[in-house]
Amino acid sequence: MLPRVILHIATSLDGRITNFPADLETYYALAARWNPDAILFGSETVLAAVRDNPSLEVPPEHEEMFRPPEGGKDPRPLLVIADSRGRVRCWDAIRKWPYMRDLLAFCSGSTPEEYLSYLGERKIGTIVVGTDRIDVREALRMLNRKYGVETVRIDSGGTLNSVLLQAGVVDEVSVLIHPFLAGGRAKPTIFDPEKAGFPDLQVPLTHTRTEVVGNGLVWARYTVDKSHRCKI
Ligand SMILES: NC(=O)c1ccc[n+]([C@@H]2O[C@H](COP(=O)([O-])OP(=O)(O)OC[C@H]3O[C@@H](n4cnc5c(N)ncnc54)[C@H](OP(=O)(O)O)[C@@H]3O)[C@@H](O)[C@H]2O)c1
Repeated sequence: MLPRVILHIATSLDGRITNFPADLETYYALAARWNPDAILFGSETVLAAVRDNPSLEVPPEHEEMFRPPEGGKDPRPLLVIADSRGRVRCWDAIRKWPYMRDLLAFCSGSTPEEYLSYLGERKIGTIVVGTDRIDVREALRMLNRKYGVETVRIDSGGTLNSVLLQAGVVDEVSVLIHPFLAGGRAKPTIFDPEKAGFPDLQVPLTHTRTEVVGNGLVWARYTVDKSHRCKI
């Protein structure tokens, strides 16, 4: 079975997903409402976070990360990074973050053996599927089967978002639009099928709800018609 998959993205009014003062408190408070068992990051997103905060020693604090325990089960989500090229090398620092129950990497047949050994030495679990790139559909199925994950929130930019949309595994797109004009070029974007290798991918959405939250933020939510996924 596939887990439920939600893309949750903060944007400026002019469509930027970087270079604007995102309201992280509201972003993560809303993200907590899905109660995800896992959070999947794109490797570029992790590398960008490292660039912004080289030590990664001081994790952000927010509601999603400090959910109170439910019974005996560790309620914290699993942190998963898609990294078939073996570029994320800050797992030791990430492990110190208090808000994840464990770490996992999605890799593929092209992932260097040296990187798989590096992960193994650090007792970081791996799901290895796909030949050249990660087969995200199968990886998510395995996440459900092996780790009992039922809901995954995606924390990535337009590349991994597009890969997931093309694979037809996304249930919901949630966009938190900030009252801010960031200017510049909207790159990276929410959806970048060209960078993901599917230049003609288009995805129709169905609007389900819009709310004004926090300080004038517009929270717009959409479901994905998965039957249109292969319209490329
Ligand atoms: N505003 C927000 O809410 C928000 C949220 C998250 C991120 N961001 C920003 O978004 C930017 C990063 O976005 P991005 O689009 O450059 O990168 P990304 O989506 O974070 O990462 C790219 C990921 O896609 C995977 N990938 C690419 N092509 C693939 C394919 N054909 N099949 C399977 N997997 C594939 C890569 O895997 P491998 O390379 O490992 O194969 C990599 O893990 C950062 O600047 C970050 O700050 C903003």
